[in-house]
Amino acid sequence: MTNLLWLCLVLWISTATLFTTSSAMPPPNPIKCNDINSNCQLSNSYGVWGDRQTCHAPNIVYPTTEEHLRQELANANKNNLKVKIVTKFSHTIPKLACPSNSKNSLFISTEKYDSTIDINMERLTVTIDGGVGLRKLIDTIEKAGLSLVASTYWEGVTVAGVISTGAHGSSWWGKGGAIHDHVIGLNLIVPANENEGYAKVIKLTPQDPLFNAAKVSLGLLGIISKVTFQLEPAFKRSITLNFTNDSGIEDEFMEHARKNEFGDIQWYPSRQIAVYRYDNRVPLNTPGDALNDFLGFQSNPILVSKYVRAAEKGFENTRNVGGKCTMASFFVAYKKLIANGLKNNKLIFTGYPVVGHQGKMQSSGSCLYSSSIDITSTCAWDPTINGLFFYESTAIFPSSKFGNFIRDVKKLRDLVKPENMCGVDIYNGFLFRFIKASDAYLGQGEDSVVVDFNYYRASDALTPRFNQDIWEEIEQMAFLKYEAKPHWAKNRNVAFVDVQKKYPKFNKFVAAMFSLDRGKEISRKALIAWEKLCQPRAAGGLNILDVQVWNKAAICKLLWNVCKKKDKLSHILWKDQYTMGVSIVPQASWIVQKILKATKYLEAVGYQEEDIVRMEKFSIQKVIYTRLVRGEYEKVRWRKLVCNNVGAPPDGFLSYS
Ligand SMILES: Cc1cc2nc3c(=O)[nH]c(=O)nc-3n(C[C@H](O)[C@H](O)[C@H](O)COP(=O)(O)OP(=O)(O)OC[C@H]3O[C@@H](n4cnc5c(N)ncnc54)[C@H](O)[C@@H]3O)c2cc1C
Ligand SMILES: *[C@@H]1O[C@H](CO)[C@@H](O)[C@H](O)[C@H]1NC(C)=O
Ligand SMILES: *[C@@H]1O[C@H](CO)[C@@H](O)[C@H](O)[C@H]1NC(C)=O
Repeated sequence: MTNLLWLCLVLWISTATLFTTSSAMPPPNPIKCNDINSNCQLSNSYGVWGDRQTCHAPNIVYPTTEEHLRQELANANKNNLKVKIVTKFSHTIPKLACPSNSKNSLFISTEKYDSTIDINMERLTVTIDGGVGLRKLIDTIEKAGLSLVASTYWEGVTVAGVISTGAHGSSWWGKGGAIHDHVIGLNLIVPANENEGYAKVIKLTPQDPLFNAAKVSLGLLGIISKVTFQLEPAFKRSITLNFTNDSGIEDEFMEHARKNEFGDIQWYPSRQIAVYRYDNRVPLNTPGDALNDFLGFQSNPILVSKYVRAAEKGFENTRNVGGKCTMASFFVAYKKLIANGLKNNKLIFTGYPVVGHQGKMQSSGSCLYSSSIDITSTCAWDPTINGLFFYESTAIFPSSKFGNFIRDVKKLRDLVKPENMCGVDIYNGFLFRFIKASDAYLGQGEDSVVVDFNYYRASDALTPRFNQDIWEEIEQMAFLKYEAKPHWAKNRNVAFVDVQKKYPKFNKFVAAMFSLDRGKEISRKALIAWEKLCQPRAAGGLNILDVQVWNKAAICKLLWNVCKKKDKLSHILWKDQYTMGVSIVPQASWIVQKILKATKYLEAVGYQEEDIVRMEKFSIQKVIYTRLVRGEYEKVRWRKLVCNNVGAPPDGFLSYS
């Protein structure tokens, strides 16, 4: 069976690369309406929101000009509707684009507001309608001999959408890797008083006090109708990927970022491989006309996407570490072979360095384009095909803290064994990118490192993921221990806990929101949505989990795992117990502390140790979450620390020492 799978994958991959150049089924439109422009539903590009609930609005409008946009906002303001801007892509994973109350709400779409791209050759700037797609912008300015220095790796975004969430490529040089830091002008349409016509356009420049609020605004300040970018004369880039040993990444990442204008590092922890991307500008007359057609964004035959998902799901359900690792090792080897999709002559990879125009080397997304004739291939995550389905975590660290985070992940890897980290290496491992300090209130105040990682998401909400504890541990280290910030456009809800406290200028952003609230509507209503994002459930309405309570409940499951010896982490704990609470590594003590806390939660809802040991299955939701939410149980004191049997190490203990 496995051999067959690999044969199939090899066939898929070779056919995929030979024939991907042209046709594919385009991703489905994120908006679906039951009637023409009414009874509409919005989804993200993966087809499922974090809370797995849908997002509705009774109506949608498609303005085509700035004045038309203004009129729609004025109308909404007059009629007290809650408004959110939606794009033709909806590539933000959290529910930012969903209005808070679906009955009295309106989607304003920028899908048809995408015609104007005004280039100013003297000033090297471009002013664009907010709904214009990134690829269209890049192609237009490159034709005029100009380049946009920073943009996302993924090109399926609109100009206004991409700056709204602080999205980025990778660079500590110049203005840095975040796109919003290349913005030098914005038009914002905001609600206004009746005598101003209920809505008005304000033009912001960097001197304006609102500018730093408006650069990254999560769609909460108003409609971004025009964006002006600073450009540079067109340039080329030269890229070399070095697949090498991962020892020393924690010390080398800074140097790497300083030496390479567009450098990044991809880390495959289970493979112990780091891929350094040496990526720098070269003069325009350097030979080379390459294309970066990133493998993950190419279209795949639907059958194969389904097959890969089925295989991954099978390995998940049977807890098959070996299967996952074979998959990971295969994919990494394949990526090395084809240089992640870099194509020297726009067709295939023939060797390093790969040199090409900025417009072809920074952003990609060939699965977005269709001839619609071939309906057998599409983006691997297309929600209509049961293909890949995954979570996407993105944590942003001040560069000074990042080395220690990597050290902790490496320690965890040594303790649980690298094989148990194969899950992320089936995707893109950990991708490290660099963002320079920014003045945007909701941007990064200091030079930062962003780490992205994807992992399996179960098709239904209550199926526990394999090695869930490991990924949860890493997320908690990132977001709690190191207080990393979440990327606004990615992550599960857990990453947003206390996010306000992590942005020192958060209050300034809120103040800006209120200052624009003269004519009421958008911003105040949006604030409610904002709080709901940060504190699910608290204000009711959104039926999503209380993440803090869920976290406590999840920790209890760790404890249960330890008691039942089901989990690799048990070895850490036992080791710790053995050394009388003196932890062998700081990592272990961090986990132990958390597990010990679990006894407190279990006590609080009336469980005794025996109850826990006796349980054959542990559903976080049923066993503990619901009880914690309801509260009020008789408290039972636990006799000892954990599970009675501290003196008896589990089988296999010695093999981990
Ligand atoms: C496959 C994939 C790859 C990705 N790669 C990267 C990457 O390399 N780097 C990175 O940083 N991010 C990446 N992202 C995230 C992506 O860049 C962001 O989600 C981006 O915001 C999406 O833009 P969009 O046009 O789809 O906007 P949407 O997701 O539709 O909207 C985003 C937010 O902006 C608001 N908004 C949109 N238009 C306007 C407007 N005109 N006025 C006011 N508010 C508006 C919306 O209401 C919403 O709150 C990726 C996402 C996916 C799915
Ligand atoms: C690849 O990276 C390793 C580790 O940083 C380094 O020792 C080696 O020289 C690099 N190889 C190339 C070809 O740059
Ligand atoms: C990486 O290097 C370290 C020490 O430099 C070595 O112990 C380890 O085996 C190497 N790993 C791989 C996968 O080559």
